[in-house]
Amino acid sequence: MSILSDIKGIEAKVRESMQDGPVTPYYTLPLDKVYGLLNAALASEIICVLRYKQHYYMTTSIHQEQLQGLFKEHWQDEEKHLELIADRIKQLGGVPNLDPNDISKRAFSSFQSGHTLADLLREDLLAERVVIKIYGDIVRFFGDADPVSRRMFEEILKDEEDHADEISDLLYTVDPKTGNAVEQFTGDSVIKRFEDS
Ligand SMILES: [Fe+2]
Ligand SMILES: [Fe+2]
Repeated sequence: MSILSDIKGIEAKVRESMQDGPVTPYYTLPLDKVYGLLNAALASEIICVLRYKQHYYMTTSIHQEQLQGLFKEHWQDEEKHLELIADRIKQLGGVPNLDPNDISKRAFSSFQSGHTLADLLREDLLAERVVIKIYGDIVRFFGDADPVSRRMFEEILKDEEDHADEISDLLYTVDPKTGNAVEQFTGDSVIKRFEDS
């Protein structure tokens, strides 16, 4: 059957649930699961905003300006993600859950801090890497069934990979000949990088 062969039938079917806006009866994914995933992602973005803000205010080294710039840029990105996801939940007929009482339980990114600059960056990198793995799974979950949500998460995933890349550049010194890290999570490279710059 061609796409245009049953316009009348399609019109009759979509007329039944006009109140659902863009969600037609042809939407095949289980909406409860969609809302659950989107609200977990929303909670994770809130945690990411708070974690980067916490790290922003904890940064008191001589490299304060550069690092605070990075943390601020990241939390602004996370805030954009939060808004995109909340808008999408609403478009799909769900309710964005911003209840502070259970945000950390729903989130898959953790709110950790630390004592040293390397601790802070390590926690940020860890959180970004968890989010990258889960957002990749979410992209595959939406697949062809919901290309708009899939594309949104693809865009967000790109930002998260950029965040992880920037933080990892600060934490690792990479040997240009081998491409391998010559220091691993010592934090020494962070200090050295900024002293050199
Ligand atoms: Fe994010
Ligand atoms: Fe991020």
